[in-house]
Amino acid sequence: MSRSRPKVVAIIPAAGSGTRIGGEIKKQFLPLKGKPIIVHTLQQFEHCSEVDEVAMAIPESALSDMETVVVRFRLHKVNKIIIGGKKRQDSVGNVLDRLTLKDSDIVLVHDAVRPFVETKRISHLIKICREYDAAVFAVQPKDTIRRSTGGGFFDQTLDRTSLWLIQTPQAFRAKLLIKAFEKAKKDKFYSTDDAALVERLGVKVRIVEGNYDNIKITTPEDLELGALILDRWRAKGIM
Ligand code: CTP
Ligand code: MG
Repeated sequence: MSRSRPKVVAIIPAAGSGTRIGGEIKKQFLPLKGKPIIVHTLQQFEHCSEVDEVAMAIPESALSDMETVVVRFRLHKVNKIIIGGKKRQDSVGNVLDRLTLKDSDIVLVHDAVRPFVETKRISHLIKICREYDAAVFAVQPKDTIRRSTGGGFFDQTLDRTSLWLIQTPQAFRAKLLIKAFEKAKKDKFYSTDDAALVERLGVKVRIVEGNYDNIKITTPEDLELGALILDRWRAKGIM
């Protein structure tokens, strides 16, 4: 069957080892109010009608656990589970290499450990990406930010209004993301986000105002905060 609109594929890197949170269980599988974090995240994409497919990067040791989770929670859009790499960028790259994409298709990249990404916001990001080819969620810092290059003293206060905290999902035309990953590999350039790779092509990335709830579960206190956010979202009927 032919498609009339470009396909939208979400890449979910979930192959990290969660060193900052510690513990035995990898953080993407830790329960948040009884359900693994990764399931909360994947359900947001499952419920987003514009998303056609979900492809994941997973640590080799978690492959069978992940397959069980996909069946148990009926995550029908997950159609690829690939072994991740050493760094996040390697994991995303491994998945990207295995996708069959047309130039105009849209690829979203979203951290497995950001469960508070609302379905309607995913749809909004896709819409902006259709217009600008590259779009990322970001929020402005609430605190004053100073810089220190060492020695225990500050040397500069940065202008807060020009600073943005980068989140995921990030959305790109497939052609751009593939080219960006090829160039990064060639130049041995690494970044913790995908937009930085696309910018190296000289492409401008559109800022889409994000939501402060869209936290990345990174340290143990984020798990407690996540439980509070989930309570609030459930009370509002969002999740
Ligand atoms: N990730 C990945 N492959 C890696 C490293 C990270 O797919 N080699 C994923 C993580 O699973 C997570 C996302 O990238 O969903 C963001 O990474 P981060 O929060 O840093 O998670 P970890 O790398 O697992 O945690 P830490 O840095 O504390 O070890
Ligand atoms: Mg990491």
